[in-house]
Amino acid sequence: MLTHAIAREVDSPAPSRDGFDFAALRRREFARLDAQRHCYLDYTGSALYGVSQVRAHMRLLRTGVFGNPHSESSSARASTAIIERARDAVLRFFDVDDASHVVCFCANASAAIKLVAESYPFGPQRQLLLSADNHNSVNGIREYARAAGAPLRILPLDAGLALQRPEEALTVSARDGAGLFAFPAQSNFSGAQHPLALVSHARALGFDVLLDCAAFIPSHPLSLRDCPADFAALSFYKLFGYPTGLGALVMRRDAMCKLRRPWFAGGTVRFASVRADLHRLQDGAEGFEDGTPDFLGIAALPAGFALLEEVGMFRLRAHVARLTDALLDGLMRLRRDDGSPLIRIYGPRRGSARGGAVSFNVLDANGRPLPYATVEAAAREAGISVRGGCFCNPGAAEAAFGVEPERLKRCLNMLDGEFTPERFSECAGIEVGAIRASLGLASNDDDVARLLGLLVGFRTLAQTGCQAASMDRMSLATSVKSFAN
Ligand SMILES: Cc1ncc(COP(=O)(O)O)c(C=O)c1O
Repeated sequence: MLTHAIAREVDSPAPSRDGFDFAALRRREFARLDAQRHCYLDYTGSALYGVSQVRAHMRLLRTGVFGNPHSESSSARASTAIIERARDAVLRFFDVDDASHVVCFCANASAAIKLVAESYPFGPQRQLLLSADNHNSVNGIREYARAAGAPLRILPLDAGLALQRPEEALTVSARDGAGLFAFPAQSNFSGAQHPLALVSHARALGFDVLLDCAAFIPSHPLSLRDCPADFAALSFYKLFGYPTGLGALVMRRDAMCKLRRPWFAGGTVRFASVRADLHRLQDGAEGFEDGTPDFLGIAALPAGFALLEEVGMFRLRAHVARLTDALLDGLMRLRRDDGSPLIRIYGPRRGSARGGAVSFNVLDANGRPLPYATVEAAAREAGISVRGGCFCNPGAAEAAFGVEPERLKRCLNMLDGEFTPERFSECAGIEVGAIRASLGLASNDDDVARLLGLLVGFRTLAQTGCQAASMDRMSLATSVKSFAN
């Protein structure tokens, strides 16, 4: 079968070197994948939860009596206890403790970033420095910086989507007064991992550093002791799939003191008076947790951390790295009979500079990218979950697709409210949007092989004279899906 031929071609399914049985873990925790023949390759979109997490949470809900934690009843104290237990688990995961760091629970990574954005003392002497490679939830900080009259600078990307001489750029930027520097530990577009050493470098120049670790930590250990970011933002569903709607901002205590919250809400104040028009925020995390925290969702966190601890973050990193290398090798080996590549990969090809998210396009016989939506539709038909588009990361996308700034501006201004990726591609005269396959805890060699098998279908169609680019999306999807099964 083609699938297995590809599997042999890419790598032999080796067990973890220290004998950890990822296949057994998949059978125990993620049996639904194989039961449904579902090939899940969207870990950067969301991790999958294991059944042990759901069972542990259900057990807790069935037996516990949990009230609103903003009171002193026994049910309220039970909720407070689970929240504090979860905070400890988060701190342990990041290799720090509550003497130096606080954990603020919020809705997701975007909300965590916004807590910093709205509270940071931007001003004409306190700039915002952003890497071009950033999720829109980080790019949005610029609106707060702009409103405060702060200069905005962008660290550009090179052709391989790595940051271009970042140390030098930081040093030059710091001459006008430091400020907030925000970058992702791992790109959600290309999987590129930006140097964590930049955190210390930037802090030494006087910057406060916001590290977006949403795409990095699901398969990499991160010690905030070694990497002393002032602020770290994450979403828990990206880490272990469940619960959704819950994230955290992990802050150094000394950095937290620099933030000025622009408002107060229930739960965040020590006191507030209407007649006296005064309020005083709570010290610590509670001063940043607006309203009632998601105490039942927070109760699910220890089971997620327990699953990651069972595997071990270093082992998980090695597992994902091995599969990523297999995927990259397979993609690079996919060629037409004339030797031309079938796939264009964005970002680092292999090695230590990348994580388990791989973005690419399938090329037609003329070396032009097929519309990403065509490949996405074929994957969907074949039971493969990948992500298509620009992944809310316009800076990395613009660098990857080589969109020239003047044309970019003209097309965006022209399309404005009528913007769609298809209309933009038409206006810019280039295909924009890619496919992203991302690997994680439950991924295995068969998942990699199935995706490669699907892509082989595009090669075969092209070689038998079928004009993939001119076929309609659904008939092409139906034609290639047989290769993936
Ligand atoms: C690197 C990165 N940062 C931030 C976010 C935003 O996360 P959320 O949508 O959970 O707030 C994402 C989501 O994909 C991401 O990949």
